[in-house]
Amino acid sequence: MSLLIKAGDIVTADSRYVADIYCEDETITRIDRDITPGAGTEVIDARGKYVFPGFIDPHVHIYLPFMGTLAKDTYETGSKAALVGGTTTLIEMCCPSRKDDALAAFELWMAQAAGKSACDFTFHMGVTKFDATTAAQLREIVARGISSFKVFLAYKGAFGVDDTELYRTLKLAKELGVIVTAHCENETLVAERCAELLAAGKTDPGQHHESRPPAVEAEGVHHLMTFAELTGAATYIVHLSCREALSTAMAARQRGVRVAVETLIQYLLLDKTYAERPDFEGAKYVMSPPLRDARNQPVLWKGLRDGLVQTVATDHAPFDFAKQKPMGRDDFTKIPNGIPSLEERINLLYTYGVKAGKIDLHTFVNVASTNVARLFDLFPRKGTIQPGADADLVVFDPNYRGTISAKTQHMNVDYSAFEGWKLEGRASVVTVRGQVAARDGKFVGPPGRGRFLQRTPSHY
Ligand code: URP
Ligand code: ZN
Ligand code: ZN
Repeated sequence: MSLLIKAGDIVTADSRYVADIYCEDETITRIDRDITPGAGTEVIDARGKYVFPGFIDPHVHIYLPFMGTLAKDTYETGSKAALVGGTTTLIEMCCPSRKDDALAAFELWMAQAAGKSACDFTFHMGVTKFDATTAAQLREIVARGISSFKVFLAYKGAFGVDDTELYRTLKLAKELGVIVTAHCENETLVAERCAELLAAGKTDPGQHHESRPPAVEAEGVHHLMTFAELTGAATYIVHLSCREALSTAMAARQRGVRVAVETLIQYLLLDKTYAERPDFEGAKYVMSPPLRDARNQPVLWKGLRDGLVQTVATDHAPFDFAKQKPMGRDDFTKIPNGIPSLEERINLLYTYGVKAGKIDLHTFVNVASTNVARLFDLFPRKGTIQPGADADLVVFDPNYRGTISAKTQHMNVDYSAFEGWKLEGRASVVTVRGQVAARDGKFVGPPGRGRFLQRTPSHY
């Protein structure tokens, strides 16, 4: 089986040139001018289009039992939505509840994905408790190909760890060379402020961001940085939303703490006024950390440009507006947290980032693919275009013009947070290991072909 992508404008994190890309079976085998296709080679004309390495979403939830309900996508639906939008690899948070064991949870999450995902996948292993058996289980999970953990400083009682558990997790991670991703918010402050707001009769979705202002997130980051400094572990702050949290992380980085930073497409483009929309519509925009004051957006864009922020993810967590978000109609603390966006991350980042002049093409590729691959031990198999790499490619049409709508999306959720937003460019042909999986907004690939990506830890 062979595939030839002709005359595309190839853009990686650090290079740009026009050439043909020849793929045999699952792998890129040659990049050159004027490659002649053999008999039976599938040829894709990429003239006038970009060719990017397959994009990687470093933070998604597909199987997510959370806040008394279950996120709507399955691997069948979520992976198709990802591919249509140009994302060829998913890194999902495996999030056991505190009563579950890590190894059983890992196997449960694997069973959700294996044979069902159309795109390649791996997991950040959630460490949601650290009892006498946890270390042995985590060692086994790492031996099975996981090289990143996830801890929550928020959601105490559900996923959140206490300080002893955090310290032990980071010490083990340092020993194993595993990078620890972390949700950073001070849970005690959140709980106190939620109680105060509810007692004052403030129950609407617009109160959510009042319950967890920037200082709450910055304190969570400071907390993690202290533990990272003392253990020497490599850390990665997920869904960083504001200037205060970024400054705290950068102060730590300056004194030698090992920290990478992820922001989300939602924080770059949406602000807290969306969550303040009347008639409960704001519930569509409730997530944690919350959408912030718009003044944070230029800080995050600059952070991407300057290399302070390494990645742009989605934290995809889809809950229906009709039936699930209303669980919190009379109490904002019960609104299932999450803003779906897996399908549109790349098209939005291109339109409102590259086309709008906020980031250049190389930064775009870096933060949505290459940096992710490097941080999470997937590079150079993923995250770049070179002979020997997996043939995960995105032929991207910069001349496409369209509008986002829930009516046409593949994500299995009843609304789009970006309804009516214009797109200027989209993923046109998307390949996974040498096979076309999506074309012009439609999934055309074989379902269930996605593979679990074995990773070897490198963050010693
Ligand atoms: O609101 C969010 N972020 N929902 C998903 C769970 C998490 O905290 O990542
Ligand atoms: Zn989180
Ligand atoms: Zn998340």
